[in-house]
Amino acid sequence: MMTQSRVWHPFTQHALEPAIPEIVLTEGAYLHKTDGSRILDAISSWWVVTHGHRHPRIMKAIETTASRLDQIIFAGFTHEPAQRLAEALVDLAPPGLDWVFYSDSGSTSVEVALKMALGYFRNIGAPRSRIVVMEHSYHGDTIGTMSVGARGVFNAAYEPLLFEVDTVPFAAAGREQETLDRFEAISLDRRAAALIVEPLVLGAGGMLMYPAWVLSELKKIAEASGTLLIADDSD
Ligand SMILES: Cc1ncc(COP(=O)(O)O)c(C=O)c1O
Repeated sequence: MMTQSRVWHPFTQHALEPAIPEIVLTEGAYLHKTDGSRILDAISSWWVVTHGHRHPRIMKAIETTASRLDQIIFAGFTHEPAQRLAEALVDLAPPGLDWVFYSDSGSTSVEVALKMALGYFRNIGAPRSRIVVMEHSYHGDTIGTMSVGARGVFNAAYEPLLFEVDTVPFAAAGREQETLDRFEAISLDRRAAALIVEPLVLGAGGMLMYPAWVLSELKKIAEASGTLLIADDSD
């Protein structure tokens, strides 16, 4: 059964699809519809339900936490689950990445990273305001993240608001050196606050892949010029 939704759903063409399926139950890999049929959720709700829907351990953890904590102000306050997750993330991260900032989506985390990069250079008294991006990248759908992502049909309407960036070519097989040379050339004047990349796989750009050694070299060039490296692994 299909429902005429009163909601504007993301990435949904309502003019072409006025009625959409309504889900009443989620279970493992399946979404159950109102008519009793089920759909295999092969996209895992856009890659976020990687352990399956309503995994018992995750449901139990949500239930336990919700019985003692709901939303609390995070400015100047903390709680044990936030501390525990931050410790676990820092343990996993390479040495030197010792702090965690929680955001609420891929787009907002990229916005935060861009703001941190610009804020850092302003705070040390040597402002830099350019952002370097890799061709074909996707970083989200807010104004800032569209600015650092590939331009095209989905963001053409917002072009007047998007800020200018410096672009390095995608590190295609056999042409990796062009990417590195371009980044090195851009870095020379030390106006770039950050290089933002999707590490190794450009998902929305068409599952384009480049090798780990390119990422290591980009990191070395960034370090040599004092440019920050933002690794956007949100999916
Ligand atoms: C690499 C990358 N960055 C950012 C985003 C945006 O994430 P969100 O849709 O949670 O804002 C995505 C979403 O697919 C992504 O793949």
